[in-house]
Amino acid sequence: MSVIVVVGAQWGDEGKGKVVDLLAERAQVVVRFSGGDNAGHTVINPYGEFKLHIVPVGIFSPEATCIIGNGVVINPSKLIEEIDQLNKCGVSTSRLVISDRAHLVMPYHLLLDALEEERRAGGALGTTRRGIGPAFADKVARLGIRAGELLDKEALKERLHFIVDYKNIILTKVYRTSPLSPDEMYSQYCRYGERLAPYIKETTVILAEALSCGQAILLEGAQGALLDPDFGTYPYTTSSSPLAGEGCLGAGIGPTRIDSVLGVFKAYCTRVGSGPMPTELHDETGNLIRERAHEYGTTTGRARRCGWFDAVAAHFSQRVNGFTGVALTRLDVLDVLPSLKICVAYKLDGKTIDNFPSSVTALERCQPVYEEMDGWLTDISHIRKYDQLPPQARKYIERLEELISCPVSLVCVGPEREQTIEVRPVW
Ligand code: IMP
Repeated sequence: MSVIVVVGAQWGDEGKGKVVDLLAERAQVVVRFSGGDNAGHTVINPYGEFKLHIVPVGIFSPEATCIIGNGVVINPSKLIEEIDQLNKCGVSTSRLVISDRAHLVMPYHLLLDALEEERRAGGALGTTRRGIGPAFADKVARLGIRAGELLDKEALKERLHFIVDYKNIILTKVYRTSPLSPDEMYSQYCRYGERLAPYIKETTVILAEALSCGQAILLEGAQGALLDPDFGTYPYTTSSSPLAGEGCLGAGIGPTRIDSVLGVFKAYCTRVGSGPMPTELHDETGNLIRERAHEYGTTTGRARRCGWFDAVAAHFSQRVNGFTGVALTRLDVLDVLPSLKICVAYKLDGKTIDNFPSSVTALERCQPVYEEMDGWLTDISHIRKYDQLPPQARKYIERLEELISCPVSLVCVGPEREQTIEVRPVW
């Protein structure tokens, strides 16, 4: 038996897509366990370049069963689009399974996400406007509709009318906008149900069977630790947990079954949307990183905020995830920088701290304390062996290992699958 959880360790967009694409070849089952189509996982492999939002990245592995777990919220129209796109490119989705417990993103979720962002005006969270927050809110408010309900049209009709009546009160009375038609929505979701029915299953039995046969299972996260509703920069967070612990809950596996936790870090930091980011660069270096790495959101196209590696945040991420290994991505982006900075502490109200504050107002006041290192000023994108990396690059990696308190297992030096250095066995 061997189960690995792969999660984002910063603010999302760390390059999990590439890492999962690589590791999925070793798995018999891949489960996406949180988030929704707010996530955007870019994969470049022999099939082409893909931007997956809901389908697990493991779909490119010809053997793996790919499960959209109960912890994901699914916009059926986006999922169908993604399935069609994959099929058009010759990628089979016959091994795709949708947990009947996964909640659905409904049209009122999209509407309420946008209306609430507009209501917050200058204080907007900068969500992806994919309805993710309202969908997860309904899940815990017990007002959600789950994938399995698409299979029972009569029951769906009744639930949908009950919920849409309630949502229409909020839409018309709170946001003073037009109500939605439950009948139209019902017909639309019945069509989605017919299309998705072959994929919708009880998935814990599939996982139990895989575990009992000793199969390798990869639990694929979305977003990053610092967007966690509990441990991230609340309220500037997403609405489901991107942490390794959620791998158990969002897939339906007990914690005793997990063998490894791989934290994916970029060699620098990025963030998209609002909220504090102590190492953000508002200068030429920030722009250079953004343009070199094409740091624009996969889902929304928004420019990502770029900055130096924040080791205070990284160590905190290690604490709440319990990584057994680190995948360091996009190291090649730093090839052109003569010197590099790593944030090793914060100055907060005159004191030096090395812990990541829980309050965003405190984090907003934090000034980074930097350690400076030499850059390597050479192209590393063709290197495939750790000891062939320039000594400055190795020194940078080894310093990050010390600061994160976790060994680096993988180093990515380019977007292609093979542009990877396996420093030590990941799994
Ligand atoms: P939501 O998840 O759409 O509600 O957005 C909440 C916050 O999480 C916003 O700052 C988004 O930009 C951010 N976010 C959500 N998904 C991702 C992602 O996949 N990568 C990076 N940021 C994300």
